[in-house]
Amino acid sequence: MNILLDSAKVDFITSANEYYPIDGITTNPTILAKEKRPYIEILQEIVSIIGSEKMLHVQVLSTNAKEIVKEAEYVSQILNGNIYIKIPVVPEGFKAMMTLQKLNIKVTATAVFTPQQALMAAKAGASFVAPYVNRIDNISGDGVKVVADIVKIFDTYHIKTQVLAASFKNVEQVQKVCLAGTHGVTVSEDVFINLYHHPLTEWSVNTFIEDWESVYGKGAILG
Ligand code: E4P
Repeated sequence: MNILLDSAKVDFITSANEYYPIDGITTNPTILAKEKRPYIEILQEIVSIIGSEKMLHVQVLSTNAKEIVKEAEYVSQILNGNIYIKIPVVPEGFKAMMTLQKLNIKVTATAVFTPQQALMAAKAGASFVAPYVNRIDNISGDGVKVVADIVKIFDTYHIKTQVLAASFKNVEQVQKVCLAGTHGVTVSEDVFINLYHHPLTEWSVNTFIEDWESVYGKGAILG
């Protein structure tokens, strides 16, 4: 089960990578553009933070297969990391996926809204498919059910492609896709913090310390 951060904020990524067992980073054009500085610089910094084993998923911009393949080759060559090229599940995208499979460039099929798009991407050679849970919920769909259906189809046909559920607004959605058997999630900074933070945990820890110090003195620890 992979937990990735959907972010290009290098300070946040540095701290998350140091403190939590994250498996990598996903970005998209919107996320990178928000940083308002050269995207290659950002991507190189991310690789230097997470190392060459954790995953970095980078999305292409081109709308025809030939150019998508060129972008994918460029990104894979310039970044010395565990790179996955995010390609939207449009006709030119599927065509590019099949070419990239032959070139051994790993692909994450993105902007997935239906199980059939996910199946097509898997057959085109994608390593991951990224269904957009909250964007499906936003149009009165059921994002969790789309994830559950993709997992079931992949299980039924013994398809090795993994589901990397994406686009979350809250922890409840994350919890539900975990129960539905997703192979991974990618979450924004806000949702990530809420995966582990709980005020009652803080309260419990403070109470333990107060009780301990009332007997053993301020700052006393074991040993
Ligand atoms: C995933 O590949 C996308 O980058 C992302 O999860 C989209 O999330 P959003 O709907 O919160 O923008």
